[in-house]
Amino acid sequence: MDDWSARQYLKFEDERTRPPRDLLAQVPLARARRVVDLGCGPGNSTALLVERYPQAEVIGLDSSPDMLRQARERLPACKFVQADIATWTPESATDLLFANAVFQWLPDHIAVLRRLLEALPAGGVLAVQMPDNTREPAHLAQREVSEAGPWADDPDVRAAVRPDLPPPETYYDLLRPLCTRIDIWHTIYNHVMASPQAIVEWFKGSSLQPFLSPLDAAARQKFLAAYTEKIAHAYRPCFDGKLLLRFPRLFIVAVR
Ligand SMILES: C[S@@+](CC[C@H](N)C(=O)[O-])C[C@H]1O[C@@H](n2cnc3c(N)ncnc32)[C@H](O)[C@@H]1O
Repeated sequence: MDDWSARQYLKFEDERTRPPRDLLAQVPLARARRVVDLGCGPGNSTALLVERYPQAEVIGLDSSPDMLRQARERLPACKFVQADIATWTPESATDLLFANAVFQWLPDHIAVLRRLLEALPAGGVLAVQMPDNTREPAHLAQREVSEAGPWADDPDVRAAVRPDLPPPETYYDLLRPLCTRIDIWHTIYNHVMASPQAIVEWFKGSSLQPFLSPLDAAARQKFLAAYTEKIAHAYRPCFDGKLLLRFPRLFIVAVR
């Protein structure tokens, strides 16, 4: 995947930081020695961890140099490392692995979750949030546009289609044997968006990115125009012209 743009991602910082707040609120750890923010992005989720665990060593990990640059500027006292979660292993005394909005990008992510959970000390926590929105209109429209345009046969564009998450029972079956306690839930947010273009801007900072990055500038414009038109038809304006972006998310808190 191409580098992510921290600037684009942070256009909706308040809305994007609500799920990590909700996730962290359910982490049953009073103290932590070392905390790692997996897929830390521009440091918005890392800042929450620093606030909650001021005594801990808080480390942010991401594969994107642009995200890491932004995170280092925001939190100069924290350590940030460039790594791929798929192959990374926590150091000893890591009490919390926190992963907000990243595991949906990892192939075979349940195997990675299992490996990381097994690497935690007794009482350590793995806390994960993933968008569970592949059946929502905004997502279906990405797939439809990707399958209809001149880019339809581009293998990179085809690979950008994100598969549905498995049901909660699958996570329970595969993670529960490795932990003493597990909490799995969904929250559906309804983000108030100013216009169809605002919804497009939101997804340009996340799930549209893998569709757009293989395309040249002209093809990107075409892709975005077709997507904007679909979004304008898919979301009904409210009385004040605003649109509600329905956004289901899956949360997992597992205690080793
Ligand atoms: C949607 S952002 C989440 C940012 C932040 N955690 C938050 O709560 O808003 C996902 C981040 O995961 C990173 N990422 C994606 N795949 C990764 C991987 N395999 N290893 C490490 N980071 C990854 C991306 O670069 C991006 O910064």
